[in-house]
Amino acid sequence: MQIIAFISGKGGVGKTTLAVNVAVALAQRKKRVVLIDLDPQNAQRLHLGMDPEEYSGLSREGITPQSMFDSPFDVKFIPFGRVSESELVGFENELRKHPHWVSDGVHSLTAEAFDFVIIDTPPGPSVYLRQVLMAAHRALVVVLADAASYASISKIESLIQDYTSDRSDFNGSNILINQMPTQGKLAHQVRTAIYADYGDQVVPVAIHKDTRVSQALAFERPVLQYEPGCKASLDIQYVADWLIESIEI
Ligand SMILES: Nc1ncnc2c1ncn2[C@@H]1O[C@H](COP(=O)(O)OP(=O)(O)OP(=O)(O)O)[C@@H](O)[C@H]1O
Ligand SMILES: [Mg+2]
Repeated sequence: MQIIAFISGKGGVGKTTLAVNVAVALAQRKKRVVLIDLDPQNAQRLHLGMDPEEYSGLSREGITPQSMFDSPFDVKFIPFGRVSESELVGFENELRKHPHWVSDGVHSLTAEAFDFVIIDTPPGPSVYLRQVLMAAHRALVVVLADAASYASISKIESLIQDYTSDRSDFNGSNILINQMPTQGKLAHQVRTAIYADYGDQVVPVAIHKDTRVSQALAFERPVLQYEPGCKASLDIQYVADWLIESIEI
């Protein structure tokens, strides 16, 4: 079982979109996958066509086989759940007291024999980032090819270092560039700078900026299912193949 965390220094870069779609691509490759939404925005479910009235999720029920939902896309998922402000404060206090809460929960799922556990997080430093870095075998840092994202990489890399330095089962982090425009000098210059600084750590495909991605979300479906042949879907499938190749399961 490989636990992959999608993280970022900046918000709105595409973590949730990519976590869901990479999970769907892995499932299409016959891998057994569970998605975990570790973000109070509780937005992952929007990509998976979940009943909007559904309240339950890991913040109430924990990460257990009972809190798992089936999606129509061959991935199982555990939503964050809808909670009040005071419930959220209580949950985050629990996480502070138990730094291995996520790790313990994920390992309690072993009876289901998953190949991949994919965990989505809110942006920047948080109690959730700390938890996921205590659990993950690999972190994918999602960035845009812009100056603000570029500047955020070194900070998130140092947090990864802080939380994983004593973990022998952590296989490192990779940088995944998203929303790459086909044209635009600045984006291409930033991408070149990221490759120059981080070299082999950069996932060898950038995900194109593609209007099909937001259209798919409007239909509450992964873009991989909505338009499998569009540029972003092909890039995402490449990332899934790269993950399978780079990880010995
Ligand atoms: N490759 C892409 N091409 C076009 N639009 C994209 C692409 N990836 C993501 N988006 C759009 O960018 C927006 C933000 O995506 P998403 O919610 O996945 O980001 P996030 O990093 O999870 O945000 P947050 O930090 O708030 O959790 C969404 O409207 C999504 O449709
Ligand atoms: Mg998100």
